[in-house]
Amino acid sequence: MSSFKALRVHQGSAGVSAVLEPVAFEPLSPGAVRVRVAYSGLNYKDALAVTGCGAIMRTYPRVAGIDLAGVVEASEDAAFKPGDRVLATGAGLGEWLDGGFAEYAHVPADALLALPAGLSLFESMALGTAGFTAALALRRMLENHQDPAQGPVLVTGATGGVGSIALTLLAGAGFEAAALTGKPEATAYLRALGATTVLERAGLDLGAKPLEKAVWGGALDNLGGEVLAYLTRTVKPWGNIACIGLAQSAQLHTTVMPLILRGVSLLGIHSVQVPRPWREALWGQLAGPWKPPQIASRLVRAEISLEQVPEAARELIAGRARGRYVVRIAGDL
Ligand SMILES: NC(=O)c1ccc[n+]([C@@H]2O[C@H](COP(=O)([O-])OP(=O)(O)OC[C@H]3O[C@@H](n4cnc5c(N)ncnc54)[C@H](OP(=O)(O)O)[C@@H]3O)[C@@H](O)[C@H]2O)c1
Repeated sequence: MSSFKALRVHQGSAGVSAVLEPVAFEPLSPGAVRVRVAYSGLNYKDALAVTGCGAIMRTYPRVAGIDLAGVVEASEDAAFKPGDRVLATGAGLGEWLDGGFAEYAHVPADALLALPAGLSLFESMALGTAGFTAALALRRMLENHQDPAQGPVLVTGATGGVGSIALTLLAGAGFEAAALTGKPEATAYLRALGATTVLERAGLDLGAKPLEKAVWGGALDNLGGEVLAYLTRTVKPWGNIACIGLAQSAQLHTTVMPLILRGVSLLGIHSVQVPRPWREALWGQLAGPWKPPQIASRLVRAEISLEQVPEAARELIAGRARGRYVVRIAGDL
């Protein structure tokens, strides 16, 4: 076989287009590993890249997909050998490196982790960057002394991939989890994930004063913009806000008052270039004590093919998706 199938993003005079096409195998460079991809997952960043709604890729053409899980076929690095089951999230895949929406990927060994015992290839991609990011946010909050006794933690963009997994992790860690959503029809789904309160975004009184009544013990924010500004005004003393996403806006207009009068912390969450020991520890948590129950039935909206990725990406950008899309490539290996 001289080529493999991949969803590649091209940039032309008419803009960006994602094309499912054959890509020629290149020789494996030193330090790289050839992975037969079993599954990938669809993240907001992939949706931006595939639809052209965001400038995610540094150069074109580029195979999309920031996550992958599969089996090593060949390795130019002593850390991996044929037959190893591996996963990669972030680490530049689908941005400055070819990504996981392909039958095969050449990945720098440093981007790969051994699949932890306790997770299947499918489950690792049902979690993917979304689950890793939610776990990173929870870890940073706990390290900064977030405690269930401080009160409910509000998750925004709650029906999304990060939001859905964050609710299960918070509930599992003993927190009262609250959900903010644009989809009131998803209330039963959010409660099943562990939300004790579900608020509708459209009905939320955002307030305007530098400090409003403090009601939230902490927050995980996927939206940015006005909602993040609201969170700074309404988190209780010493609470943490994990700043994850920008699904609403990249802007943040607030004041320093919550930080200097309530000791509120804004924690930056970045999932791409994460020190290896943190990645190993967090995936160990996700495969062990933090593993969400019933991943497939509770968190996965659908298993899709590479052909179906562009349509699912448009659904994510429109904010209509719920939970996680797993992209099946070779399937279970
Ligand atoms: N910092 C990092 O390293 C990192 C890692 C992963 C993801 N992220 C970011 O985190 C965010 C969530 O990612 P995801 O993979 O969970 O995406 P997702 O599955 O598409 O979920 C995003 C959710 O946000 C809400 N939403 C979407 N569009 C919106 C809009 N225009 N205004 C307000 N709410 C909107 C929707 O939830 P409701 O309808 O329930 O409100 C939607 O389900 C994205 O901005 C992504 O780029 C960052």
